[in-house]
Amino acid sequence: RQRQKLAPALLRWYDSHRRDLPWRAPPGARVDPYAVWLSEIMLQQTTVATVKGYFERFLTRWPTVEALAAAPLEEALAAWAGLGYYARARNLHACAGAVARDHGGRFPSTEAALLALPGVGPYTAAAVAAIAFDQPCAAVDGNVERVVTRLYAIGTPARRAKPLIREKVEAMMPAARAGDFAQALMDLGATVCTPRAPGCGACPWSADCAARAAGTQEAYPVKEKK
Ligand code: ADE
Repeated sequence: RQRQKLAPALLRWYDSHRRDLPWRAPPGARVDPYAVWLSEIMLQQTTVATVKGYFERFLTRWPTVEALAAAPLEEALAAWAGLGYYARARNLHACAGAVARDHGGRFPSTEAALLALPGVGPYTAAAVAAIAFDQPCAAVDGNVERVVTRLYAIGTPARRAKPLIREKVEAMMPAARAGDFAQALMDLGATVCTPRAPGCGACPWSADCAARAAGTQEAYPVKEKK
């Protein structure tokens, strides 16, 4: 199938299989960039199931980025306890301060401006730009790496294949619904294109998948030689 058909097939799948998560707006509704950013920081190295409760408690206590910025660092760190990686919580507070101080309390909407914020790396910048602002940015996390290396049978270890994976995602990017597209890719990786025993029978891309054609799904992503 042509690459232009990939996104529509994925978005159709997402429309009927979308996971209802607290940081996702109902279809068609706008999302708060602050909530998107908060969820993406929390979801780094922490599971969706654990993040849900923390996300809702944070938003209840600090409903805006300004409220979080105004909180003492110690309180933010205490609320973070259990999520691990305290550098993330320090960066979270520093980032809230930067948005409140330097951006008038509104998250910037471009990938480049987001990337300049404390604790915001390439993945998070692309994810927030896509999900909160519908910018056509490729948010490549571990799930997306697995999906794309299988789809194109990319045999280079994921760390080195990252630029190619980004290119592939950019090439299939739809003209609209960039945020849904980003989250559809994440959901596909998390629920269908799993590391072991992927559910290819339920995959909207099974007929397009090079690894599936070769029967080598579980060989991807290729591990780095030690
Ligand atoms: N993992 C990281 N970001 C996510 C999101 N927005 N939805 C689901 N899983 C994710």
